[in-house]
Amino acid sequence: MNQDQLKQLVGEAARDEVLKLAPGQVLGVGTGSTVNYFIDALAPHKDHFAGTVSSSNATTERLLKHGFKVLDPNDVVSLPAYVDGADEIDPLGNMIKGGGGALTREKIIASMAEQFICICDASKQVPVLGNFSLPVEIIPLSKGVVSRELEKLGGTVTLRLAKSTRADLNQTPSEPFVTDNGAWILDVAGLHITDPLALESVINQFAGVITVGLFAKEKANILLVSDASGVSRDVF
Ligand code: 5RP
Repeated sequence: MNQDQLKQLVGEAARDEVLKLAPGQVLGVGTGSTVNYFIDALAPHKDHFAGTVSSSNATTERLLKHGFKVLDPNDVVSLPAYVDGADEIDPLGNMIKGGGGALTREKIIASMAEQFICICDASKQVPVLGNFSLPVEIIPLSKGVVSRELEKLGGTVTLRLAKSTRADLNQTPSEPFVTDNGAWILDVAGLHITDPLALESVINQFAGVITVGLFAKEKANILLVSDASGVSRDVF
């Protein structure tokens, strides 16, 4: 099976997982290619949910295309589950996210949810986070100062450019990638993240940081992971 087939397989498993929830509730929906398979698989069952809250403009567009109701998170008080992918996940359920640039809204929706259901193929599982560059969303005028602080932590910092992102985002090559929030992203390579919760807290303190793509406070509660032998389910 290739990686797309593995993503589709776990997307379908996530559909079965969320259909176990009592009907008539709101579902949180993440962003990325794995989640896209999940949305497509869930579409025939959309009436099971009162609505969805979305973590990005791209996800909103896909949900609406399938006829899901997309609600303003400010109007939602109860969210039993949030389904999203990850760029890396460690054995305790801590994650690096933000490869698709949606980390801030993803973290907001994850913080609202009772359960974070992470869906990925087995290539995303790592013993220690940090092989994938850590995304940090920033206010543009803080690029210099935040970059210097991140370098003091041992990272190598690169401003994300539009050309380094997904083609479907339709931004001009070589210009900074601009998030749904009008902000920029620094990608930090070379970190060996042995204490994700502590590092998340440290980076959150830098003035100008909007969100760090470490999901330790909002880590996964359930992990569905696909490999050639099928989908396994872990609970943290
Ligand atoms: C987007 C994310 C995604 O969940 C992460 O990048 C995984 O994406 P994919 O499912 O395409 O591999 O954090 O901001």
